Amino acid sequence: MRIVHFSDIHVGCLTRDMTAVADKRAFGLLNYFLRRRRMFDYELVPRAIQRIHVLSPDVVVCTGDLTCVGSPEEFEQARRMLRPLVEAGNWTFVYVPGNHDAYVRSDACAAALRQTFSELNSERWDLAALPCEFRVRDLTFLLVNEARPRAPWLSTGGLPPGDAAALNAWFRAPRRPGEKRILAGHFPCLDAGGKRLSLRRRFDQDRSLSQALRSSQIDVALCGHIHRPFLRDEAGGALEICAGSLTAAGILSVLDYVPDADRFAHFWVDVKGGEQAPAAVPKAMATAGAVE
Ligand SMILES: [Fe+2]
Ligand SMILES: [Fe+2]
Repeated sequence: MRIVHFSDIHVGCLTRDMTAVADKRAFGLLNYFLRRRRMFDYELVPRAIQRIHVLSPDVVVCTGDLTCVGSPEEFEQARRMLRPLVEAGNWTFVYVPGNHDAYVRSDACAAALRQTFSELNSERWDLAALPCEFRVRDLTFLLVNEARPRAPWLSTGGLPPGDAAALNAWFRAPRRPGEKRILAGHFPCLDAGGKRLSLRRRFDQDRSLSQALRSSQIDVALCGHIHRPFLRDEAGGALEICAGSLTAAGILSVLDYVPDADRFAHFWVDVKGGEQAPAAVPKAMATAGAVE
């Protein structure tokens, strides 16, 4: 069983919605065009897709931040870029939203996110159905939507009380024989160095996620948000894997589950490295990371 994971492609473009000048999108777009656009190389997306074909995964996961300000125009471009992953048919492609995908309270933006979520997940679920789980052989994936519009100075995320209760119930539920559990969300509970993220950037339920990993109630948490990839392993063997930003770092995370050995194996693939065979790169890509 092979899972290829990437995150945070951050497509950015101007929006036709003039109300954007009066809310958080004005700051986000200014920041994007003055500073962040230079950080992202969108040519890495088709190169990554080529590599994914070579890697031949069973599941491909994108853990959010497709966009910069969550506008319909940005979502349209992101869907176009990622459509080959949906249409390939060789694997199950899964997407969960990041904080930039639910940037402001806007009906048009919310509708674009719902449409994008449904389309990229091949109409399997409505966004409102999350958290929900799906199974691929021994692996059970729980998909969570941690993205909610927040104040302009915040890049935080969190779950409403009902979703948080469902997540905690899933952590505590007994496992099926041989079952491995993988959470797919946007936010890491800790950074690469094992510290909580700052108040301005963290996940509201980071402590319960951290506890679930420490106590091995889940085996793997896949996330993004921090743009430099990292992997943390808990003493009990659970993994938190942040794929970083594909368009900034150019890295794919590859996780193999070997049922006979009952273990996970992980490596990174650098999609900037030409067309040679996938190469392993160091487990920890960074000790600190630029976020969001
Ligand atoms: Fe983020
Ligand atoms: Fe991001």
